[in-house]
Amino acid sequence: MLKLAVLVSGGGTNLQAILDAIDSGKIKNAEVALVIANKTSAYALERAKNHGIKTAVIRKKDFASKEDAEQAMIDAINAEGCGLVVLAGFLSVLSPKFIRAFEKKIINIHPSLIPSFCGEGYYGLKVHEEALKKGVKVTGATVHYVDEIVDGGEILAQKAVYVEEGDTPEVLQKRVMTEAEWIILPEVINKLANQ
Ligand code: GAR
Repeated sequence: MLKLAVLVSGGGTNLQAILDAIDSGKIKNAEVALVIANKTSAYALERAKNHGIKTAVIRKKDFASKEDAEQAMIDAINAEGCGLVVLAGFLSVLSPKFIRAFEKKIINIHPSLIPSFCGEGYYGLKVHEEALKKGVKVTGATVHYVDEIVDGGEILAQKAVYVEEGDTPEVLQKRVMTEAEWIILPEVINKLANQ
């Protein structure tokens, strides 16, 4: 059984998609052992609690340094024996030290077709604002391994989504979530748990 640590910052709809896929059997041989948020206000924490999943809030500002906060995350993840770290809307850039602690064991969901609209500063709604500004007709989502280059790790899955006339960033974000993110993230986790 692969134990997952899911890192979140916000609403947690991708966490919910993982939990639903486990419940429905779309993800086999994996369980969410721990959800870590970097904000107390993250609604993802409620979703985890509703599922009886252990949660932790680890905020930079409660520690002497970012390094100390990340060490607390490393310790919490290792204490649960997690074999995969899933960044599911975790909107903070992790340091090389954290990434090296879980080499090829961290995946991220990004709301665009990498290498478009990615890298430092491209997160959440901002990604869709930039896609609409550029006038692309197709966007989508990417699941990739996390390495030391922001959004630069090996691509594991992608799914394209059409931009439609009159889209706002919010409307486009929702379509990318429903048609791509909530599908490919559980698929990749299932693959990694059963290879
Ligand atoms: C999702 O769209 C996710 O792809 C994005 O933040 C949103 C979080 O939503 N992540 C990034 O932009 C990472 N660079 P959620 O909290 O409802 O899952």
